[in-house]
Parts: sequence; C-alpha cells; structure tokens
Amino acid sequence: MKEFKTKASARGYAREQRAAGKRVGFVPTMGYLHEGHLRLVECAKASCDVVVVSIYVNPTQFSANEDFGTYPSSLEADKAKLREVGCDGLFLPSRSLYEYGDDGGDDGGDDGDTGGASLRDGGMVVGASISTASDDASSLARHSTWVDVGTVSEGLCSLSRPHFFRGVATIVTKLFHIVEPDVAFFGKKDYQQLKVITRMVRDLDFGIEIVGVPIAREEDGLAKSSRNAMLTEAHRAKAPEIYRGLLAARAACVEGKREGKGSLKVDDVTGEISRRIEDAGGRVDYVHVVDAETVARRTDEVVVGKSLIAVAAFFGSVRLIDNMEV
Ligand code: PAJ
Repeated sequence: MKEFKTKASARGYAREQRAAGKRVGFVPTMGYLHEGHLRLVECAKASCDVVVVSIYVNPTQFSANEDFGTYPSSLEADKAKLREVGCDGLFLPSRSLYEYGDDGGDDGGDDGDTGGASLRDGGMVVGASISTASDDASSLARHSTWVDVGTVSEGLCSLSRPHFFRGVATIVTKLFHIVEPDVAFFGKKDYQQLKVITRMVRDLDFGIEIVGVPIAREEDGLAKSSRNAMLTEAHRAKAPEIYRGLLAARAACVEGKREGKGSLKVDDVTGEISRRIEDAGGRVDYVHVVDAETVARRTDEVVVGKSLIAVAAFFGSVRLIDNMEV
C-alpha cells in the first residue's frame, strides 16, 4: 500500500493509474477504522482496479462544542486493516487540507511519501494532531469557498449539527478534486450524507459515480460505529433495541400494505420506535420518517417503497444513529 501525504502526490498517483486505463475507486474516511469502513473498501475492490482511501479528520464539519479535538485515532491499526483488505493507496495528509501555499495555490511539492513517521500515530490521539488546531484556525481563516447543497442537507442530523453538511460537502469536493476518482463509496449508515453527496455530484456535474453501501452491523444488529466502544456494558446490551425497533416498524408497514390495510401513520410508527428505545433506557434525539430520495420529512403516512425511517438516540452520553429503508 502506497502512502501519500500531500495533495500533489495523491493526485499524481491517481492520475497515473487512470492514464494506465485503471478504474480508480475512492473511500473517504476520518480514520479509527472498523468493519463498516472496511466494507466500503471491499466493495470498492470488487468493482475497481485501484482503491484509494483517505484518512482526514475534517475540522469544518465539527461545531465548536463537538469532538474534533478529541476525535479518536488508531493510525497503525488502520493501516494494517487497510493493507489486509487490499487498499492500494492511502491519502493521509500531513497538514491541514485548508492550508494553501503562499502563492495561494496548492500545497506544493512532495514531502516524502511512503514510510516516515506520521504526526498522528499511536493509540488514542487527537484528530487535530494531523495538523495542529491552531494551524487549522489560521488556515481556515484564509479559506472562503463553501459548498451548500440545499434542502437535502436540511432536517435530521443538521437539526443538531447545523454546519455539518456544508463542511462535509466542501471537504468531499476538495477530496474529489485531489483524487479525481471514477467512483466513490459512502455508507448508508450516514444516509443523509450519502444523499447530499449524490445530489452535489449530480448538480455540479462532477462526473463521479457515487455508490451507497449497506450498513454493516454487529451480530445483534447494532450498526457498527467507533462510538459503540464508548457505551457502558449495560447500554451496549440495550442499544440494539434501535435496530429491533426499526425492523419491527418496517415489518408492520410492509404487512399493512400487503394486507390492504393501507399505509401506517407516521406518528404511530415513530411513536412505537421511540417507546422501545426509551423502555431500553435510551433517550431519543429524533425518530423521523423521510422521503428516501429527497430526505424531506413526511408527517402523514409511511409510503412503502419510498420511505426511510431515521433514528438518532443517546445511550448515556453516546449518540447513535441508524436507519432503515421501508
Ligand atoms: P467516517 O465517519 O469516518 O465514515 C467514513 C465512511 O464510512 C462513511 O461513508 C460512512 O457512512 C461509512 N460507515 C461508517 N460506519 C458504517 C457502517 N456501520 N456501515 C456502512 N458504512 C459505514 O463519514 C465520514 O467519515 C466523513 O463525514 C467524510 C465523508 C469522510 C467527510 O469528512
């Protein structure tokens, strides 16, 4: 697996591959990789000749009160996992991607790529150490172009994280322009993110294929997430109730339709899922039914075949998200 620390070297590698007729797949991540991330890489391997993964904790998608400064990292373990699933190129920027050369251009030359100790090695170190927090503040002050994707980025997670999708769309645009992939892979676990990127790529003619990958789950159904490790034993045992609630809701909606009873009311479906989560000791942030394509909230009926039920809930202080297409 080759490693690239600069924009120029990552771009050079991907261009070389494409010039050789290779189909380049891309998986952007923020590191601290688990099987959910690796599923994306495996999917990319199955349909591409070359797979590039990026690990970059993007400061602009965190609000001031969020965990950018303490975002977990496990770089050596990440690299070992990526090698195992056959990742070809790892883009691991050695400084802020919002830092531009004094000429206002790119980050200049290659600062030595494969090998070399990273700034962000070892166990649980802070995400900001990829470039120091103050570096980010000063480089961000010089960055002024943002990608706003409109209504598909409203509602759900943007309710509690208002700057989130602007930050995601902007960094993914930058990464797409650096790696210039043929196809990029995003998990359905972050369903709204997938839809925001799909819409952005369509509206702005990126010419990149976007593939949504099904949610990877633990054996008991809990969606895989780096946050699961932060749950207490008792909460970890109860958290799969989110998934069981979603499954039961989907079954009820589909059965209602099959038996000609008509569509179920949104309030009944979301109320039942909320009750199950609260009975299990969780605290609901939201349970919403949205249009699976536009992510617009529905408040009347669950239209089977076109809906998504999305959940965010706290178990202790850990916020978990999950969703299911109905
Ligand atoms: P991150 O949270 O590291 O996730 C990287 C990718 O892994 C996303 O596409 C996410 O949906 C996917 N993923 C995580 N858990 C998953 C699971 N259990 N099943 C399937 N896919 C899963 O999402 C981001 O990073 C960032 O916002 C990013 C797109 C990299 C932009 O900074």
